[in-house]
Amino acid sequence: MNKGKVIVTGGAGYIGSHTVVELVESGYTPIIIDDFSNSEPEVIRRLEEITGQKITFYNAKVQEESLLPDLIQTAGAIKAIIHFAAYKAVGESVEKPLEYYENNIDSTIAVLRQIQKNQDVKLVFSSSCTVYGQPDNLPVTEDTTRKSAASPYGNTKQICEDIIKDAVSASASMKALSLRYFNPIGAHESAKIGELPIGIPANLVPFVAQTAAGIRDFVTVFGNDYSTPDGTCIRDYIHVVDLAKAHVKAIQYLDDSNEESIYDVFNIGVGKGHSVLEVLQGFEKVNGVSLNYRIGDRRPGDVEMIYADCNKANEVMGWRPRFSLKDALKSAWDWQQHLMEKEHG
Ligand code: WQD
Repeated sequence: MNKGKVIVTGGAGYIGSHTVVELVESGYTPIIIDDFSNSEPEVIRRLEEITGQKITFYNAKVQEESLLPDLIQTAGAIKAIIHFAAYKAVGESVEKPLEYYENNIDSTIAVLRQIQKNQDVKLVFSSSCTVYGQPDNLPVTEDTTRKSAASPYGNTKQICEDIIKDAVSASASMKALSLRYFNPIGAHESAKIGELPIGIPANLVPFVAQTAAGIRDFVTVFGNDYSTPDGTCIRDYIHVVDLAKAHVKAIQYLDDSNEESIYDVFNIGVGKGHSVLEVLQGFEKVNGVSLNYRIGDRRPGDVEMIYADCNKANEVMGWRPRFSLKDALKSAWDWQQHLMEKEHG
């Protein structure tokens, strides 16, 4: 039974593509809007292979004038919009703040204007734990005070959350949720989709996978003089498929709610922290590989330790993570090996 259509902006991206798979498997029909600025058209084909279904997609920016209004009018039965499309490289956002503010905020406002006009369409917004900065207390709950963002990227997430909240307050009936992701890692079990970093990976796990594959000579651990058990930073790493499933739960929760208007936020993590060295050691162990690594300087902007209290997502939406760190690190290596096979034929 078809549960309706869901527009997925940025649906060819890392988290978006995994969410498209979960939407299809839960009986929804996804419609992707993606400008492929941080993904590839090949991902659409992979999604069709995995789901066995034709995937409708538009190669466009979300904020393109008539795209969304026409799509909502013509497609019919749009249940929700999941808004992933955003520039997300923390370092790049420091160099190009105006591009980040313009793209990430304009696209969110374009989506909100459609939600405002079409009250039956719900919104699930892709936010980030980066809104917390370095929390004073751990684990972070949704009530933990947001700190001023350490980067323009993080600031766009805070600003967009506030815009959505204000838009819901001003509307008689609008339903929206912000999901605050912790650190998504890993890949779909098929190894047909996964993280596709452009150039040198900024994030830890893809860099580790490329080092294990011999593409990088060694991993630099950005600092081992933090006040943590082994001196390296601690994060809450969540399997990207668990994160994808949280979006389906979010839509179902909004669909089932009898409230006229809803705005709420949820932490989506596993509720446990792991250090950089634990990730390296876990990757080596589960995949039977050895990793060259060196201890380097701290990376500016890094928070020392953050991990989630994600009980609210379980209590309210009935979501909880099921995969372990080992599962995620194994899937990351399977995906990396698939990429190498693809490259070397
Ligand atoms: C994790 C840890 C690094 C690379 C970022 C964004 C966040 C979200 C997730 C979008 C840190 C260390 C990393 C390396 C290392 N993105 N590290 N060597 O910074 O926690 O979060 O990605 O929403 O907004 O900020 O993730 O994977 O970059 O780093 O030692 O080569 O690994 O210092 O402690 P981060 P990360």
